[in-house]
Amino acid sequence: MAVSVVVSGACQVGDRPADDSGRMTSSAIAVSGLRKAYKDKIVLDCIDLDVRAGTVFSLLGPNGAGKTTTVNVLTTLLKADGGTVRVAGHDVATEAKAVRAAIGVTGQFAAVDELLTGQENLQLMVDLNRGASNNGRRIVTDLLERFDLVESARKSASTYSGGMRRKLDLAMTLVGNPRIIFLDEPTTGLDPRSRRTMWSIIRDLVADGVTIFLTTQYLDEADQLADQLAVLDQGRLVAQGTPDELKRQMPGTHVRLRFTTVAELDAAARIFPDSTRDDEALALRVPSDGGTKSLRALLDRLDEYSLHAEGFTVHTPDLDDVFLALTGHTTEVVAK
Ligand SMILES: Nc1ncnc2c1ncn2[C@@H]1O[C@H](COP(=O)(O)OP(=O)(O)OP(=O)(O)O)[C@@H](O)[C@H]1O
Ligand SMILES: [Mg+2]
Repeated sequence: MAVSVVVSGACQVGDRPADDSGRMTSSAIAVSGLRKAYKDKIVLDCIDLDVRAGTVFSLLGPNGAGKTTTVNVLTTLLKADGGTVRVAGHDVATEAKAVRAAIGVTGQFAAVDELLTGQENLQLMVDLNRGASNNGRRIVTDLLERFDLVESARKSASTYSGGMRRKLDLAMTLVGNPRIIFLDEPTTGLDPRSRRTMWSIIRDLVADGVTIFLTTQYLDEADQLADQLAVLDQGRLVAQGTPDELKRQMPGTHVRLRFTTVAELDAAARIFPDSTRDDEALALRVPSDGGTKSLRALLDRLDEYSLHAEGFTVHTPDLDDVFLALTGHTTEVVAK
């Protein structure tokens, strides 16, 4: 599938699939022409999404892009102003109960009750989830083990670290064995090790056939986990595709050479005519496939001209480059 770069503008009704497309395909989630505004501020502007069952779909965007608003509409917590949303084949506007029965949601802010222990939090979910109550104790024990929370199971959740709280929160979401799970920034604020633990939990769920709808601000996370991703910027989808498809849109791998003087930068720019220069950083960006052969040739050429590069890095395009190219700003810019 080719990358679709979405052109912003009014919803074109004719461009969208029919309302009941969610029933016809193996879509776990089908969103068409979704709009939401708070007073006169448009927060979601004509969003179309399609998430195949048993895959990870990642919605990527900076603060304020509209990720949580999207999750809230898809999980029936918020009413849309326009468009259709089908989750597990059910319309969120008219069949909210059926949608809720099919999904699990781990919100951006943990829903853990601080006054209860980890075990009690899980037991509470089991009790609320009537279908699971027959072997409730077993479910709690399994989840505590699976999430490595056995040792702290009897401690108050208020004593848990951020990572433990996130894990408990996700464990609570899994009590009813949902087939579609929404995770809103599940790894924000986690240290690298806890992030990796969360990633492996997500991969295990997908291996079991669960569909994951994941929002994140981390481009590497979407790159690692997602089968498909969509980039949201100020309420508009600016691109959709696989991580590789989006990366292919970008200028390729290059070598960045940093020099100490303008004279050296000038000389290097002359011997690498395809390069682009960054005068402020005294750096030169030379296109390269990043392979050892071409890197050796590049260094030999510098030697030949007695040029010494102070810094030498091989740069493979990542999703940060994609974001910058699609939106004109990096993910650090707050899109308000
Ligand atoms: N209840 C509300 N009333 C008014 N505006 C709101 C409300 N909720 C969200 N917004 C606005 O909608 C926009 C999108 O917010 P949203 O929470 O969906 O962003 P986000 O992508 O989840 O951001 P973050 O990464 O910070 O969680 C923001 O401009 C926000 O200020
Ligand atoms: Mg959010």
